[in-house]
Amino acid sequence: MKENHSISICIKNEDQTRKLAKILAARIRPGCLILLDGTLGTGKSTLARHMIRSLLNQPELEVPSPTFLLVLPYENEEYSILHADIYRIEHPEEVEELGLLENEKAIVIVEWPQRAPWLEDEADLVIHMTMDKGETGRLIRMEAPGNPDLLEQAELDLASLKSE
Ligand SMILES: Nc1ncnc2c1ncn2[C@@H]1O[C@H](COP(=O)(O)OP(=O)(O)OP(=O)(O)O)[C@@H](O)[C@H]1O
Ligand SMILES: [Mg+2]
Repeated sequence: MKENHSISICIKNEDQTRKLAKILAARIRPGCLILLDGTLGTGKSTLARHMIRSLLNQPELEVPSPTFLLVLPYENEEYSILHADIYRIEHPEEVEELGLLENEKAIVIVEWPQRAPWLEDEADLVIHMTMDKGETGRLIRMEAPGNPDLLEQAELDLASLKSE
């Protein structure tokens, strides 16, 4: 078994968040579950927005935060994307009722995954976001427990983003 390897990166501003999203989107495949962990306002929805735009190749697509509707769906010819924010959920069982994992081909992006800890067992990619220096700095740590190849393949691109 491969060890659970993680990659950390300091992001200086939202433009770098967009570049990170693009690098990850190039490696994400249908059926991937991506968890975005971090406290209020760390940039989970912003990262998800840029990932969805990149996956769908629609740089201007409106991608609102799903805080109130819980799940917002998107799709292209090949697969659906579900963008969920489960912050307002009180019981982990309610997450099962959302049926996030029912469509095996959907790419599922979940904010506030700590509301349903069992999601972590299913996750391909877990992204932890914390505030870093200044207003726009973010520290991002990524693990790919269910899919180590995903980060290994992204490592070169991530190294060039790190050195910007
Ligand atoms: N480097 C950065 N990456 C992402 N967002 C950034 C960055 N710097 C500043 N921001 C700003 O931080 C805010 C992050 O808001 P966002 O809604 O993405 O956070 P969130 O983690 O989804 O919050 P919530 O916990 O309410 O869901 C936005 O206003 C965004 O413009
Ligand atoms: Mg959000």
